[in-house]
Amino acid sequence: MGRAISDSTTSEVLVRLNRRFEPDELREMVVLQKEFKIFSSKHTLRQSFALLGIVPADRSERERWYRFLDKLYTYKSDLQGVNGHDRVVKALADAFEAAQPSPVYFIVHQASEDDRIVVTSGRPIIFSLVNYSIVSIPTTPSRVARERAATSHGSEARRRRSECFGRRRRCEHCISRSRPRANLFRCRSLLRRPRAKYGATPLGVDWSCQATQSLRFVQLLKICDFSAAISLNDVGCGCGALCALLAVRHPECEIDYLGIDLSKAMISRARRRFSTPGHRFVVGKVSPRLADYSVASGIMNVNVGYPRAVWEGFIATMLRGLRHTSRRGFGVNFVSEMMIAEATAAQSKVGLYCTDPEPWIRYCEDELGCAVEMLDNYGMKEFTLLARCKHGLAE
Ligand SMILES: C[S@@+](CC[C@H](N)C(=O)[O-])C[C@H]1O[C@@H](n2cnc3c(N)ncnc32)[C@H](O)[C@@H]1O
Repeated sequence: MGRAISDSTTSEVLVRLNRRFEPDELREMVVLQKEFKIFSSKHTLRQSFALLGIVPADRSERERWYRFLDKLYTYKSDLQGVNGHDRVVKALADAFEAAQPSPVYFIVHQASEDDRIVVTSGRPIIFSLVNYSIVSIPTTPSRVARERAATSHGSEARRRRSECFGRRRRCEHCISRSRPRANLFRCRSLLRRPRAKYGATPLGVDWSCQATQSLRFVQLLKICDFSAAISLNDVGCGCGALCALLAVRHPECEIDYLGIDLSKAMISRARRRFSTPGHRFVVGKVSPRLADYSVASGIMNVNVGYPRAVWEGFIATMLRGLRHTSRRGFGVNFVSEMMIAEATAAQSKVGLYCTDPEPWIRYCEDELGCAVEMLDNYGMKEFTLLARCKHGLAE
């Protein structure tokens, strides 16, 4: 927007924002907001949008996008005493926390006409059936912003250059004291402004959406009683992201964690990030040990080209493995059958396994001797089964 990000990145992030906050995503956003307070004074927009995966696809543009979001602190808004950044946070929090939540739509307007961030309500697209909260951000076309910047940068450079010449012998902007003229064009302040140093983004841009990943964990962990020390198997642990969530949500509980994944690369990454005596990782398909609880997030979803019946045979084996290695219970999630109706041809090509909960509830109850609780009210197109072990499993 303006000089901060290119016009094409502006278009891209507007699409991403408007897809993420559209009516179809509203239920999920309401649950995420309730669970993690994503939009609140606890988080900056750079953190919240990274968490939701609202970042330009081009990695080189991401830092500029983040800088733009930080710059919103210097913008004015339609609320007296509230800066632009906090106004956007408030608009999103209000929309998702309202008794009647509303989707949110981002647009831009000419900064020359109104330099404030303005929030209104209405139907921004012709086919809207519901009211949106509309956030409008003042912007200046890149070309205009660049021309202005060039003009002001030119006069600043001239001012500093004349200072350097005026002093002749000593210049804080020049590398050398003795030859100010010769070093004029190596004068650091004339060549470039110091770059702000930003640390690595903790929210990890490698994930398409860390927020929904965490929301899945929150559902699965409902199987656990954290009031005393526990052991926990995480089957299909990936990079071990669950460890980070456990540290934040259950710091008081002593957890003996074992991550299992069939990918060596994933296990190496997980070890690099989270290895401690209480966090171990092994390559494998089944846990090598019996633990109080097991969770498995996302391991049933991609059927890697197997016919449905064959894949369901694998799922039964995986569930049996989870039961065998869990003393008290296990949690597992599936993409729900509802998805099938909505799935595009592209999705079905990827080989997404979608299912109705019924057969797997029955399997866990009848074949594995569990009492099953089904969770499907967390805003996502999937469900979680919490299987509590009633008694030992006959071999
Ligand atoms: C979608 S990722 C989810 C990773 C992690 N659970 C999370 O939510 O961040 C699925 C992971 O499960 C692993 N996986 C799939 N089937 C598995 C199996 N039968 N045993 C162990 N790991 C499995 C894959 O290698 C992959 O890392």
